[in-house]
Amino acid sequence: VPLQGLNSFHIVARAQALAHITSEADVKSLLADPAWASEPKFVLGGGSNIVLTGDVKPLVLKVEVLGRQVVGETAKAVIVEAGAGEDWHAFVAWTLAQGLPGLENMALIPGTVGAAPVQNIGAYGVELQDRFESLDAIDLQTGETFTLNAGQCAFGYRDSVFKHSSSGKQDGGYSPIGLKDRALILRVRFALPKPWKPVLGYADIDKKMAEHCTDQPTAQQLFDWVCEVRHAKLPDPAVIGNAGSFFKNPTVSPEQCTDIIGRDPKVVYYPLPDGSFKLAAGWLIDACGWRGKSVGMAGVYEKQALVLVNRGSVDGPDGATGGEVMTLAKAIQTSVYERFGILLEPEPVVV
Ligand code: EPU
Repeated sequence: VPLQGLNSFHIVARAQALAHITSEADVKSLLADPAWASEPKFVLGGGSNIVLTGDVKPLVLKVEVLGRQVVGETAKAVIVEAGAGEDWHAFVAWTLAQGLPGLENMALIPGTVGAAPVQNIGAYGVELQDRFESLDAIDLQTGETFTLNAGQCAFGYRDSVFKHSSSGKQDGGYSPIGLKDRALILRVRFALPKPWKPVLGYADIDKKMAEHCTDQPTAQQLFDWVCEVRHAKLPDPAVIGNAGSFFKNPTVSPEQCTDIIGRDPKVVYYPLPDGSFKLAAGWLIDACGWRGKSVGMAGVYEKQALVLVNRGSVDGPDGATGGEVMTLAKAIQTSVYERFGILLEPEPVVV
């Protein structure tokens, strides 16, 4: 089964077998089938945060569970549920059309609702974990359905329990219950806070507010501005293959930050509440001269050095291989490390 149309990098690769999952029952019947029960499985959502470095040998489960509904209301929030296969951006637009703001800062993030908790997506000051209520998932080993709250998802910066294997290392400690390749997310519930307050304070959004002479934007205005900013800076994966930010923004100690300012006083950094500093990885890559450069058909996006792109067509055979993307990524890591002493960590899942 060709996977080029099922990953936003549009890398040419094949799956040995692919099953469309539209409900919990689909997973259960698959697990009841002796031909598939014990086969290794790979869960695929929108494919917008993966780098395929070859054909996928495990059985690919393409999640297509649909549905969007308001499922409850408390004094502090409206609870909205969406099937894991729903398109994330369409879901955000739908909540606003229902008069339920709260997700607007995360407009236009590519991918599905079910993939959103895996990397705890975020943009312009809001992360998924800030609006998360709970999710339902099915255990691919036992076939049991279970519900996780935010604490159990162990959200971190572009991180969650779904990115870690059971024995995997997590932030210096060991995660006892890593769910990588083990859980298939079926439905996600969001708590949209009442009353709604805009989340502001990001330079790109503040600039839009100044242009529109307002300090009280509506949720719809914020949604529109986020879409404008993202359109201007980030490549549309339907046109240019990419997986969003390719590296995480690194966090450093005050001492390291001082050291890096010494190496280049123009470095972009943000103080964090715990006293550490977050550096703009895009700036570090840019400062090393990578913007617009290529390795084979893999390139560094001209308008945002944090984004690696496929310079081939989205449906032709001429595009970047996963190997070229990873060679480029390693070359960037090496030069940023040599210049600034920082090892950038890739953000997408390398398959
Ligand atoms: N910068 C440069 N050169 C570049 C790119 C960026 O100098 O080529 C500088 C910018 O001028 C700015 C700073 O780096 O001062 C930060 O850039 P930007 O505001 O574009 O945000 P980012 O740190 O590059 C992060 C997220 C994005 C998210 C935006 C907005 C990560 C890894 N990336 O990008 O998330 O949309 O902030 O909130 O945290 C993603 O995760 O896939 C993603 C797109």
